[in-house]
Amino acid sequence: MDMKSFEYLYHKARGMDRERIARETGLSDDEIDMMEQSYAPLLREIAAEMPQAADIGKRFVRLTRYIYANRADQELDMPRPDAVKPREGEMIALPGTSKIAIPSISLHQAIDQRRSLRSYSDQPFSLEELSFLLWASSWARDFRSSERNEFTRRNVPSAGSRHSLECYLLIQRVTGVKPGLYYYHPLKHCLVVIDQSPQIFVAVYDGCLRQEMVRNSAVTFILSAVPYRTSWRYGQRGYRYLYIDAGHVGQNIHLAAEAVGGGACMIGAFQDEAMNECLGLDGVQEFVIYAAALGKKPSGQ
Ligand SMILES: Cc1cc2nc3c(=O)[nH]c(=O)nc-3n(C[C@H](O)[C@H](O)[C@H](O)COP(=O)(O)O)c2cc1C
Repeated sequence: MDMKSFEYLYHKARGMDRERIARETGLSDDEIDMMEQSYAPLLREIAAEMPQAADIGKRFVRLTRYIYANRADQELDMPRPDAVKPREGEMIALPGTSKIAIPSISLHQAIDQRRSLRSYSDQPFSLEELSFLLWASSWARDFRSSERNEFTRRNVPSAGSRHSLECYLLIQRVTGVKPGLYYYHPLKHCLVVIDQSPQIFVAVYDGCLRQEMVRNSAVTFILSAVPYRTSWRYGQRGYRYLYIDAGHVGQNIHLAAEAVGGGACMIGAFQDEAMNECLGLDGVQEFVIYAAALGKKPSGQ
């Protein structure tokens, strides 16, 4: 969904009249006419769901209590999901995880100096530094597969070791890597090319509601969730764990960024539809859950 459509729908769903929408969004009369027509079915859907949205948080917490847990699919002998998304494409190798040489800073220092960083220097990350950031946050150090179960172990904890998160990268300044959108393969420890067109940068920037740090970042991590990997074992309660898992990944991104002379800022404010579109996700089987803009610290920080 493009930015204009999003803004129109956002304001319209909040009951703004035509004049106010035009004022807030800069849309012309013709554009508003066109959107009124083409988005009529979607607006009806939004209007019907708005009352449910008003208290979904409380109901989510209440209805995902342990006491309500049905027998999950694993218990019902349903086929196990894959632990890693199968993905083909041009691959770019990263320096091996056993060979990464990063100047060490103490854990105390990394925690102490961590702040959300929203402006970055022009300096790129090296491929080794990127490899380190991925090692800390998403790399799978072990992979177990049988007919009954499949899982990975990583450098972050995850409920039941389900590790339902996938990692995508919008790369703008990494030495030796052409700017573009990539998928990170956690078993092969490599990047898989998704999109190297100039449009993808605008699309992700818009998707992150035009937060400047995305435009200026050396790399923006985009984390998606594949809920069935977790709900296969935990049913609806598994959805809680996706968000908790994402927090662990976010903190390791933060601390690893400090260790390579950089910084990060997490991103929870994004346009779900647009971000899912950028990654080619359906928003149900897999959806964007969290993002983080990263770059080297500006001089003097
Ligand atoms: C779940 C989550 C979502 C966030 N989303 C955004 C965001 O969309 N934009 C932004 O500028 N900062 C975002 N932040 C960063 C917070 O604003 C920041 O962590 C907070 O102000 C505390 O500052 P500190 O990280 O420097 O300690 C987010 C942080 C978290 C944990």
